[in-house]
Amino acid sequence: MLDSASFRGIMDVAGDTRFLVETFMKLRTVILLIVLVALGIGVTLAAMLLHGGLSATATPTRLEALLARSARHLAIPENAREQHNPLAATADHVHDGMMHFADHCALCHANDGSGDSMIGHGLYPKPPNLRMPETQELSDGELFWIIQNGVRFTGMPSFAEHGKEDDWKLVLFVRHLPQLTAPERAEMERNNPKAPDDREEEQQEKKFLNGQQEKAKPKAP
Ligand code: HEC
Repeated sequence: MLDSASFRGIMDVAGDTRFLVETFMKLRTVILLIVLVALGIGVTLAAMLLHGGLSATATPTRLEALLARSARHLAIPENAREQHNPLAATADHVHDGMMHFADHCALCHANDGSGDSMIGHGLYPKPPNLRMPETQELSDGELFWIIQNGVRFTGMPSFAEHGKEDDWKLVLFVRHLPQLTAPERAEMERNNPKAPDDREEEQQEKKFLNGQQEKAKPKAP
């Protein structure tokens, strides 16, 4: 026979069990919801990153570009961002930076910094137009850091091997880009790295202009 105390005890245990089961069910719903939301975010992020079949010819979405830019900004240490250019923007320093840019950077960024080059078009993300406010508003220190360290997961390489002075001169030239003149651009074109074929063609043109035209090569059909 159950006395009333034992009966109450059993009922208490039953109540506790029901409470536990109900709590568990609620928790399960919450966990399920969290999993669904995480899945939704994952799918959205994947769609954002994998669009264009991972082809480098695609252009990053605006959101992706904004996130990447903000992440890069945060990843650059504050004391690096606050550095000032130790070199003054003298004609010589800017000219050195310009020749260096023609040799090492124009390949991707184009002589005028527009990014309008064959390799520039084929990169993901594409090199931005360096004359635009988005770049010009970066601090000297941030530009220097980017040139020294490169940007991971992009085509932008590190140029730390140049030495600091050369990279500060490049910063001066990046600042000069919006005012680049036609004669400066022509000088850069003469100093762009050239493939042997292009160099030969240039030699032929020079000879032609000097009035010593060589026998014209037969044209390909
Ligand atoms: C192989 C291609 C390539 C070469 C060579 C290259 N860059 Fe870049 N550069 C890029 C790409 C791509 C980006 C965009 C990176 C990003 O989205 O964060 C970039 C970004 C930059 C930026 C940041 C601009 C901004 O607003 O985000 C600067 C400054 C820069 N490059 C300067 C240079 C200089 C100076 C050189 C030569 C010493 C150089 N780059 C050589 C591909 C290149």
